[in-house]
Amino acid sequence: MRFTVREMSLSKTIVGAVVICSLFFSPGILSAQESKAASPLARPEIRKRVDELLKKMTLDEKIGQLNEISGADFMSPPNREEMIKKGEIGSFLWTVDPQLLDKFQHIAVEQSRLHIPLIFGYDVIHGFRTVFPSPLAMASSWDPSLEEKAQSFAAREARSIGIHITWAPMVDIARDARWGRIIEGAGEDPYLGAAMARAQVRGFQGADFSEADKLVACVKHYVAYGAAEGGRDYDSSYVPETSLRNVYLPPFKAAVDAGVGSLMSAYMDLNDVPASGNRYTLHDILRGEWKFQGFVVTDAFAAGDLVTHGYARDAKDAAFKALTAGVNMDMGSQTLSKNLKSLVIEKKISEQEIDEAVRPILAVKFQMGLFEHPYAELSKVDRVMKDPAARVFARIAAQRSMVLLRNENHTLPLKKDISSVALIGPLANAPIDLNGGWGIPGQTPAVTIEEGLRQKLPNAKIAYERGGEIRRTIKSFFDDFFPGAAKTAPLTPEQNAAEMQKAVDLARNSDVSILVLGELANMSSEAGSRSTLELPGMQQQLLEQVVALGKPVVLVLVNGRPLNITWASEHVPAILEAWQPGTELGNAIADILFGDANPGGKLPVSWPRSAGQEPLYYSHTLTHQPEGSQMFTSRYWEGPSTPLYRFGHGLSYTTFSISNLKLPKTELKVGEQMEVTTDVENTGSVAGDEVVQLYIHQRAGSTSRPVRELKGFERVSLKPGEKKTVHFNLGKEELTYWSSAKRGWVEETEEFDVWVGSDSTAKEHAAFKVVP
Ligand code: BGC
Repeated sequence: MRFTVREMSLSKTIVGAVVICSLFFSPGILSAQESKAASPLARPEIRKRVDELLKKMTLDEKIGQLNEISGADFMSPPNREEMIKKGEIGSFLWTVDPQLLDKFQHIAVEQSRLHIPLIFGYDVIHGFRTVFPSPLAMASSWDPSLEEKAQSFAAREARSIGIHITWAPMVDIARDARWGRIIEGAGEDPYLGAAMARAQVRGFQGADFSEADKLVACVKHYVAYGAAEGGRDYDSSYVPETSLRNVYLPPFKAAVDAGVGSLMSAYMDLNDVPASGNRYTLHDILRGEWKFQGFVVTDAFAAGDLVTHGYARDAKDAAFKALTAGVNMDMGSQTLSKNLKSLVIEKKISEQEIDEAVRPILAVKFQMGLFEHPYAELSKVDRVMKDPAARVFARIAAQRSMVLLRNENHTLPLKKDISSVALIGPLANAPIDLNGGWGIPGQTPAVTIEEGLRQKLPNAKIAYERGGEIRRTIKSFFDDFFPGAAKTAPLTPEQNAAEMQKAVDLARNSDVSILVLGELANMSSEAGSRSTLELPGMQQQLLEQVVALGKPVVLVLVNGRPLNITWASEHVPAILEAWQPGTELGNAIADILFGDANPGGKLPVSWPRSAGQEPLYYSHTLTHQPEGSQMFTSRYWEGPSTPLYRFGHGLSYTTFSISNLKLPKTELKVGEQMEVTTDVENTGSVAGDEVVQLYIHQRAGSTSRPVRELKGFERVSLKPGEKKTVHFNLGKEELTYWSSAKRGWVEETEEFDVWVGSDSTAKEHAAFKVVP
């Protein structure tokens, strides 16, 4: 259902509840001051420069600014240099060749009539030269400052070669692990997602992306791309207003409030209107309600795809629909550049509308200082790329993002005096794949797990067996672009079985087996959706055969999504989720396995028992027969509907107690705020980190409310015996939600539960009431 801004901004009052109902309040808006300061178009001096430049520009030159072209050989027009000279291109993407970028920029600045610099974009998702953990892994750290710092390293490296804008952060909420792009975001929760979104924007952009080592961030994919039906990449999303407002939009809103310079419109149909032609989300919400002043770029070729969707009649109609919906820049398809002029001549679009579309693009170029300093200082690249601080930080980031899922009888950490280790699995020594999705040419290869273990245990006998190969059944479109994809013919079943046998024999003759199982990089991310969550290939059989030997086994998962490890969760004593940890993968895993680092990560997703449970998330509403009720003990007759591992779950080598939850009052006036505190103590014998999580539940209201919602978290480091008090705020920001019944934001006079604890089953409880 769709409403106009006018309809929704009407204030309403309902009986029994006080409703703060302005469309323009939505959680996060209280911190919007920062964004207004950061937005280039909000600065009078930049507005003035943009206006002056616009007056000098021809219609063709203006339309050129909306045109982003492939700088790679792939789908790039042969006459691109001529086009730059004529001012027909505003931006390039998909090349990280510093010489080529420099050449393009020289042509634009020196040979085009108005000397307008180009802006260069690339997918700098989790590192540029140095690779940091993938975004889902970073979210598992529950440490936004870690993510902020990682993205500031990435920005510095990318900017040094002349990249200006990154197509990140990806903030799509993902509640279905079949969807391959779950790895690119922060998981299932809007609160955690918003925190990671803000952190990434700050990391990439700094205060306002004007510094010479910063990038403009582009938050994507707006919006609800992660709700793809069946988890199939690009498939339609059907998202009611209530989930759109309460779940899918908040991380975007957080990025906008943090001053993000750009936003990418998604590919898929959202409630039957393609996201890149969707005026409701791009114009009414983004610009109308949120006052976003940056520029919107479509996902690659998405403007042209409006025809494929069956939404636009032809390319001209697509250009009309994209521009009037709120798109500024057309990534790759040239639909806008080829059709806007005739639309202006035919008076279907006014030149003023074109000016409005160009304005934020020019403003970003001014704000970055590109008119004054258009070229990268290539002589400095080497120094930036070789900064050892990035590698040191990559190791810490990898350690902090891993999640210890299971650790029976203190299997981990392993003792360093171990004499022989069987390292087994297709992912244990694969350098390129271990860098994870969104590889960038020239990236530092990952330290493999084999290398990491050898460094950690110089005196132990470490032997490696692959145990069979894994590969996609259907090749990925992206395989041609990245060297990691297998180019050889697949192994026959007999060859795989022989490899497996060798691995089992090795395990039999070793003190301990470390199995590294999971997915290759091309098995998740874009075009990486799956219909099952089983371990690919013969990895499950391999695992079962090694475990059957009855010797110590540790399972390390390297993957982009939760997988079906239900069997392992009962039979393998220690399971470490490493995700895709980046360049320092091998060292960080060895640090954790041998106790030089203590795992403190927590799951940012509910871990399913099997694909059949998806979509799965903790923050659901209750049915009339909740899980565990007498009449219908389970909603599936062959197994529980609860997750295998809960959202927020993660173990440590030490133990913690969380207690003494204190609310200063039991009645809170509407609009008021209170500080909630709780104590966390390290009750074990080694130092470690706990993520203290705060959840709330509104007991009744104008709509049914989720059983729990995360509304606060803090990762705390504690020495053995140390105790700290953690502070959380609870008030309008946390208690307001978008009510489908009231069609607006409401803070209701109702009773609330609060829990604090170490995962989404947190037990420490208190209650309060919101009163008029
Ligand atoms: C992806 C985007 C990406 C863009 C540019 C698209 O295929 O969906 O996430 O930023 O390509 O590489």
